[in-house]
Amino acid sequence: MTTRLTQIPPGPAEKYDRSQNLLSWMMCNFKEFGDIYRASIYGSDVYVVSGPQYADYILRENWQNYKKGQAIKRIGLLLGNGLMVSEGKFWKKQRRMIQPAFHQEAIVALTNVITEANAALIEKWERAALENVSVNITLDISQMVLEVVLISLFGDDYTKVAPHFRILSSESTRDLQFAQSFRPLGNLVAQVVANRRRENRVSTDILGVLMKARDRESGQGMPERQLVSEIMTLIVAGHETTANTLDWIWYLLSQNAEV
Ligand code: HEM
Repeated sequence: MTTRLTQIPPGPAEKYDRSQNLLSWMMCNFKEFGDIYRASIYGSDVYVVSGPQYADYILRENWQNYKKGQAIKRIGLLLGNGLMVSEGKFWKKQRRMIQPAFHQEAIVALTNVITEANAALIEKWERAALENVSVNITLDISQMVLEVVLISLFGDDYTKVAPHFRILSSESTRDLQFAQSFRPLGNLVAQVVANRRRENRVSTDILGVLMKARDRESGQGMPERQLVSEIMTLIVAGHETTANTLDWIWYLLSQNAEV
């Protein structure tokens, strides 16, 4: 059943105070106000939602009404107008073309890549444990995830691109200086695309799927610049999120050894 939002939902009278833990603060408010509430967070009036009916309402039924915020515009400076940044009809068109790269069968086909990268890391850590040498979990996880992401995206071209993208693991700050080093890597992606086109090479990796994708209305493929933005987006979106999640998992396991 569709929920119709006809009035402003209540929420906490006091603004979010930066000294508090944001997640705990949000959880307390969910308990007090239910699955949707209005709040002031970092100086903006926001609606905080939880629950599939609101995801459906915002993302599927009324997506035309919602715009992405300032933070996303800053991401656009780094990644161009890929899925993270684009909006409205253009986003929908791109999303439809990219979706097949993430169908269940496509993900299943990546299992070997994921398993092999993890197996190599386990071996490294087991050796370190035997030799009583410490490991840098953050760095190791980041490198392993980057390998999985780049092989998934670039397939046989992995060895060509990998050394250039190492900056994502070796550099942890995400400031303007990082942006200056990262942005030009789009040219490298463009080169890989141009080489594949020149050699008439069709690949089953994610870049290959995106190069073959056609808009269902116009029958057109993605312009090269857009292709580069989408690939740069997938590199960052696929790497940082997964690496951070696994990093925290190891930290939490270290604090809860019985688990
Ligand atoms: C634990 C891992 C991950 C987490 C926690 C995560 C989280 C998220 C979240 C919260 C969003 C919504 C952002 C928004 O629109 O406000 C998102 C979108 C997105 N993620 Fe992930 N993600 C993960 C892994 C990945 C991976 C592995 C990839 C690709 C290889 C990826 C690619 C994307 C893309 C392209 C979008 C934009 C989708 C669109 O708007 O159409 N993510 N992710």
